[in-house]
Amino acid sequence: MSRLLILAAFATLSFAAGHFTGSNVCKKCHPIIYREYSESMHKRSSIANDPVHRAIWEKHPLKAGEKYTCAVCHTPSDERVMNALAAGKPAMPEPDNVQTHEPISCAYCHRIKSIERHTKQNRNILNGKPKYYYAAKRGKTEKEVVKFHETSSFFGLSHSIEGSPFHTIDYSNELFNSGKNCLGCHDHKQNGKGFTICSLDLKERQNEKQNCITCHMPQVPGSYSTIVKSKTHAYHGFAGVHLRPELLADSILLAASEENGMLKVTIENRANHRLFSHPLRLGMLRIAIRRGGDTIQSDPVAFYTILGHDGKPAMPWMADTILKAHTIEAYETKTLETGMHLQKGDRVTVTLGYHIVNPNAAEKLGIEEKKASEFRVLKSQTFFF
Ligand code: HEC
Ligand code: HEC
Ligand code: HEC
Ligand code: HEC
Ligand code: HEC
Repeated sequence: MSRLLILAAFATLSFAAGHFTGSNVCKKCHPIIYREYSESMHKRSSIANDPVHRAIWEKHPLKAGEKYTCAVCHTPSDERVMNALAAGKPAMPEPDNVQTHEPISCAYCHRIKSIERHTKQNRNILNGKPKYYYAAKRGKTEKEVVKFHETSSFFGLSHSIEGSPFHTIDYSNELFNSGKNCLGCHDHKQNGKGFTICSLDLKERQNEKQNCITCHMPQVPGSYSTIVKSKTHAYHGFAGVHLRPELLADSILLAASEENGMLKVTIENRANHRLFSHPLRLGMLRIAIRRGGDTIQSDPVAFYTILGHDGKPAMPWMADTILKAHTIEAYETKTLETGMHLQKGDRVTVTLGYHIVNPNAAEKLGIEEKKASEFRVLKSQTFFF
């Protein structure tokens, strides 16, 4: 009996996460979603594809220890590395097929059954069935689990198809409606010293109307499959700081007003998380007043979190304190006195943007890609006085 139990436990350990169907298999029936995914940061999250991730890994002490623990979130479809980590063996990423083409694969994400909460970092629990995928219900079917079937009516004159000929779909997993399936990787992370180096600092207002999915995977034109057709589908490029930030602009409100002849600017964050939360990011607010033919620029206002150790800025694995921070928290409205005088007829342009990698950090880390440290716009708006 006990031996059976041990065997069963071992079987779950080795197969629970195993046998991910390649994302290129999904391409045949989900070509639009596959194309978007191919450009997404979930496809570029490995050292093979993300020069920023690679730069930090190159300096990380775990590299010398040959323990690529980053895999848990950055390349969890890589069974070779994941199994080596679990067995306490050297686990290093190779530029192979999985690392290059599907570090976080379609099948991995759609098999997340539940999330375990932990202080250090959360953990994804997957189902053990390679062709069993969870999806949101959104009124599509009354059934919880759908297997492929065809129904004909009007004496065989009309056919309708439900389900997929390749896989089972389970609509009963609440995580896929609320977006909580993202929180195994995205919620928070502590370093070896038990210090939280990264946190979205989520304010729990995840509901079906507004959550990670509705903001970062909005419905865009195009069918979600070639067999069962739809007008729109959930965007799989994942709108973010790298790709399509304009899709997120609606959740930031900018305003400019006058008080005693001076310009005041407000930023309202409608997201349920802190903005520019990754410690490499540098958010920037820029204000320009057009007056006649002249432009008057304000000093930019920066938003950042600088990690530290011994009173100096430190790499994430060394950090044990937040040295300095200026953040925009979930649902926060920030009002900034600009110290700029206003005149009638002024045109004020307020721009909230960011650098993916703080240019100072990019220089220190030797990240030469211009795209990583250039200024990008999240939202810009002009006000007339
Ligand atoms: C042979 C074609 C085919 C292949 C291959 C295929 N699918 Fe599907 N899939 C479908 C069809 C058809 C539907 C729509 C079923 C419906 O809505 O009734 C679907 C639906 C889905 C859904 C649920 C959509 C929803 O909200 O109803 C998910 C998730 C999904 N597929 C994931 C995948 C993944 C991941 C792969 C690759 C590992 C894959 N599919 C491979 C045909 C396929
Ligand atoms: C608990 C999950 C988790 C672990 C473990 C993890 N990361 Fe990440 N990492 C993330 C997530 C989620 C993001 C995206 C966050 C964002 O964009 O704000 C990210 C982003 C990054 C970025 C920014 C990439 C870019 O293109 O801007 C770097 C660099 C990075 N991680 C390095 C590492 C390294 C090195 C390790 C291993 C030592 C590691 N991470 C381990 C979850 C994790
Ligand atoms: C990071 C996690 C993640 C990855 C990677 C991912 N998906 Fe999804 N997918 C989701 C979520 C979340 C939804 C939205 C909820 C839902 O409809 O299930 C979704 C929705 C879908 C849908 C239904 C779309 C709709 O509008 O109803 C299909 C089909 C699908 N995914 C297939 C795929 C395929 C194929 C890939 C790889 C090319 C893929 N997914 C990669 C998380 C992911
Ligand atoms: C298996 C872990 C994992 C899961 C699950 C996951 N992500 Fe990610 N996500 C990452 C990592 C790692 C990165 C950073 C990749 C990099 O920059 O190298 C990332 C990056 C992102 C980004 C940043 C894109 C950009 O342009 O910078 C967004 C937005 C995002 N994820 C949203 C989501 C959403 C929404 C979900 C849930 C539907 C989700 N993720 C599920 C690991 C995950
Ligand atoms: C109301 C819309 C909204 C919701 C809901 C939302 N986000 Fe965001 N998210 C944004 C906006 C706007 C940004 C761009 C500013 C920034 O980079 O922080 C962003 C940025 C991000 C980034 C990139 C941050 C960085 O510094 O690289 C990640 C990762 C992310 N969101 C993940 C999530 C996850 C996971 C959830 C669900 C728990 C979620 N978001 C819910 C609007 C939203």
